[in-house]
Amino acid sequence: MEMRYVKRLKPVQSKLLDAAAQAMENAHNPYSHYYVGAAVLADGNRIFKGCNFENAAFNDSIHAEMAAISAANTAGYRRIRAIAVISREKNGKTKVPATPCGICRQIIFESSRRSGIDVEVIMSNTDRSKIAVMRISQLLPFAFVF
Ligand code: THU
Ligand code: ZN
Repeated sequence: MEMRYVKRLKPVQSKLLDAAAQAMENAHNPYSHYYVGAAVLADGNRIFKGCNFENAAFNDSIHAEMAAISAANTAGYRRIRAIAVISREKNGKTKVPATPCGICRQIIFESSRRSGIDVEVIMSNTDRSKIAVMRISQLLPFAFVF
């Protein structure tokens, strides 16, 4: 499937991506040297940021999206309208947009299930020349539920 890129972001989407790009710089990534930043938009236009936090047991790293969603939830913000994700390499730019991994999609879906809001996912490459905007229902159809 081809990814459709948007020409322009709305100001609020742009601001969210700015926040994600800021958070990305704080990545703790001594193992992969890969930087990921995420920012979620909650009620009252509150923004919560997250970045990847790796550890020596590689599989147990915290992903940027998880950190951002958890930060919002911890502050009592349970209704997330959008999440922006961006990434970069140690010494270079990514060509294609950063998309949430399967686990993060399930976590975004969990938030959307709780709030009833079909979360907007804004995905960008490093220099923002390629940005895709999709709903979590498009990114993770037939999500696991019980
Ligand atoms: N990573 C994220 O932060 N989000 C994802 O959804 C995919 C992967 C991080 C984890 C690890 O620190 C680095 O990217 C390389 O896998
Ligand atoms: Zn992930």
